[in-house]
Amino acid sequence: MTIPALQSSTLIVPDIPNVPRHVAVIMDGNGRWANKRHLPRMVGHERGVAALRGVVESCMKRGVKYLTVFAFSSENWRRPEDEVSFLMGLFIKALEREVRDLHANGVRLRVIGDRTAFSKKLCDMIDRAEAATAENDKFHLTVAANYGGRWDILQATRKMLDTHPELATNGAVITEEMLTPHLSMAFAPEPDLFIRTGGEERISNFLLWQSAYTEFYFTECFWPEFDDAQLELAIQSYQQRERRFGRTSAQVLQCSTPVS
Ligand code: IPE
Ligand code: IPE
Ligand code: MG
Repeated sequence: MTIPALQSSTLIVPDIPNVPRHVAVIMDGNGRWANKRHLPRMVGHERGVAALRGVVESCMKRGVKYLTVFAFSSENWRRPEDEVSFLMGLFIKALEREVRDLHANGVRLRVIGDRTAFSKKLCDMIDRAEAATAENDKFHLTVAANYGGRWDILQATRKMLDTHPELATNGAVITEEMLTPHLSMAFAPEPDLFIRTGGEERISNFLLWQSAYTEFYFTECFWPEFDDAQLELAIQSYQQRERRFGRTSAQVLQCSTPVS
């Protein structure tokens, strides 16, 4: 585990990077983007994959190190069956098309979420993509698929208790540091910037634990239209925030030397 991952925002005041080190994105608005153009929702999802490719490039160019994107939530199974199966197929296609380039560009790809509901084909492709890029460290792209923040906290709790069964009868000694290594994002620093496209202003069960002190940015822009210029606006907004982590403004001004 790298040092930044250990910087829990609730245990210490973490470094405050000028360019967000970790950006988390709810890629929302694909369906409405398509509806507006009288196109099927599925076209919106396809354009969404193309937008993601561009945003990975933009993040790398700007010095962001971790990008975590919400592709399919644990609640998205409630959608019509044809849309769900289209999205699963699109995930397979995207892996087939993109992994080679990601690897060539030094990107480490991870998929977080509950894989038990995925087909064997998809599970195998995810395993292969993660293994192929496991040595890369230039940029970390994480795709959250069948992910839910509540699922994440529950699975981490179960793993913690599997590892330390004695904790089940001694809950008073449980600390953050015992739980967090089991969370899906244990390898990354907490997100600095959380972007949601599509106009909704809610977290929809994304990184609940990890976004305790993340700066939120909401935009009306639909995900298929989110590009480098939109990312620039989000980063500019982030750079205007005063991240206090519980302290007063005077304290922040006294001791803050931004790190890049
Ligand atoms: C986000 O776009 C993609 C997924 C949830 C898979 P939506 O499909 O939610 O698009 P809207 O919100 O209906 O426009
Ligand atoms: C959140 O978007 C999940 C993804 C973008 C993958 P939704 O469109 O599912 O969220 P709600 O239902 O509007 O909250
Ligand atoms: Mg939506």
